Order: sequence, then structure tokens, then C-alpha cells
Amino acid sequence: MSIIFLNGAFLAAEEARISPFDRGFTFGEGVYEVCIVVKGKLIDAPAHLARLERSLKACDMAPPPEMANLPTLMAELLQKNAIHNGSVYVQVTPGVTPRNFTAQPQGRSTLMMVANTGHFETSPAFTAGVHVQLQPDIRWLHRDIKTTMLMPQVMAKRNALANGLADTLFYDADGLTEGASSNVFMVDTQGSLITRPLSNLLLAGCTRERVLTLAQNAGLTLQERPIRPEELPQAAELFVTSATYLIAPVLSVDGIKINNAVIGPKTRQLQKLYLNYIAA
Ligand code: PDD
Repeated sequence: MSIIFLNGAFLAAEEARISPFDRGFTFGEGVYEVCIVVKGKLIDAPAHLARLERSLKACDMAPPPEMANLPTLMAELLQKNAIHNGSVYVQVTPGVTPRNFTAQPQGRSTLMMVANTGHFETSPAFTAGVHVQLQPDIRWLHRDIKTTMLMPQVMAKRNALANGLADTLFYDADGLTEGASSNVFMVDTQGSLITRPLSNLLLAGCTRERVLTLAQNAGLTLQERPIRPEELPQAAELFVTSATYLIAPVLSVDGIKINNAVIGPKTRQLQKLYLNYIAA
């Protein structure tokens, strides 16, 4: 039986109760983080918690009373579930009010944390790569907030699955924005590593940031600019990053093979550097 953390207490998932008037349920107000754990160590937890704080602030949501204590509670949750490799999901909502758009919660913000087992470095996405499709980015314009309002992403991923694909990459008028739950990188024929600059139009991925640092330290040439869909057929390499993908090679987009659907050398190099980083 899995143990979760809800509003100050560790309890069996089956016994956990959230009010039907929680604004996370009635208005879809919520923010979240997914942080992985490798050999008992949380990866980039400070970056995830800093982003959680930014998301809360952007939504004008009160932090939960446990905010300062989250790293300890995350570790305790993993320990109670005997998980050494996996992830911790953290969700915060404003808490309970009558169903009134502008009502201010009187009580605490809801905090829920769930731990899951997982071995992301041996996943098929990481080791063998993914085939994806493109779709227009129909989401709102605050994609820098990591909100639980994920209906567009759920629809895009279900649509990819129905088409026999692993995922969807979104694009707008300027180029690719991001994957449905990842950031996108391209290697061009000159060997430059290209990814879209941060703005309100995409999430500031913690893995994206880590990969940029690793690439910079390895002396790779970096360019932060949008990747245009028309460039993809000529791309030398393409990959997506996220806490759970780590670095997943993209082998084809809308049926167009990237590097003849073979994982490229820069992608492999960065995967190796990333594995070294999480093992260190
Ligand atoms: N999603 N962009 C979007 C829209 C995301 O949902 C995610 C992560 C990322 C990558 O961020 P990071 O590197 O910090 O994980 C980019 C998580 C994994 C999820 O929703 O499960």
C-alpha cells in the first residue's frame, strides 16, 4: 500500500481525502513538480522547489505551511515507501472555498506528495529514443507556470498514442515551443546545440537548464533560438528533456526520420554526461 503525504500527514493513499470544494478540483487551480530520485538522491531538488515557489507566486497562491520543510518531507516520503529510484510528485492547490471564482481560501493551501518507483535511465525512451508528431500549441500564454491544467497535454499525448507515436511536440508561429511534457533541443549540421530561449511560452525545464550547463562545460556551441519545423528534415540530431525522459533521442517527427532514425553522437555524449551528473 502506498503512503502519501497530504496536508501535514503521512497516510495510506486509500485513506487520503480531499474536499470536493478544493479549488484544484472545482477550478483546476494547481501547480506541481516532478523530481526524480536516483540511488536515494533527489536530482536538482533545489531547482524544482525554486520553480514551485515561482509558480505559486505567479498564481498568487499561498505556499503550504510545510514549504520550508519540503526537502525533508520528500526524503521521508521516499523512505516510508522504501523507494531508492523513482520520483516524487508534489502538488499544491489554493485549498477550499465555495465555488466562487474570486473567493479567498480561509484555510491552508492543499499539499499532496506521492512517491513512485522508476528507473528512467533504462526506459525505452532514454535507451532507444522516441517517434513523435507535431501539433499547433493550443495552450495558454503562461506556460512558464507549471500548472496542473494539463488537458491540452493529455489530449496531445493521447492523440500521439492513437497514431502509434510516443509524444507530441508543440509549435507556434516562431517555431517549436516544447514537448507536451518536455523541452526540445536540436543539433544542426554544424554541430550547434539549439533550444528555444526561455519566455512565458515554455516551461523553464530543470533538465533543460542542467543539459545547457553540461553542454557548455563540454565546450559545445549553444544557440538559444526557436527551432522552425521546416528545419527538422535537415536536423543532425533532435532530443527532448524532462525529469522523467532525462534526455530522450527523437528518431522521427511526423514520419520524417532524424539522422536516419539513429541516435546521434552529441545526444549520446550528453546522455553520458547527464548519467555521470546524476551518479555523482
Ligand atoms: N513535465 N515542459 C513541460 C510542458 C513539462 O511538463 C515538463 C516536465 C518540462 C520539463 O521540465 P523538467 O526538466 O523540469 O522536468 C517541460 C513533468 C516531467 C511532468 O509533467 O510529468
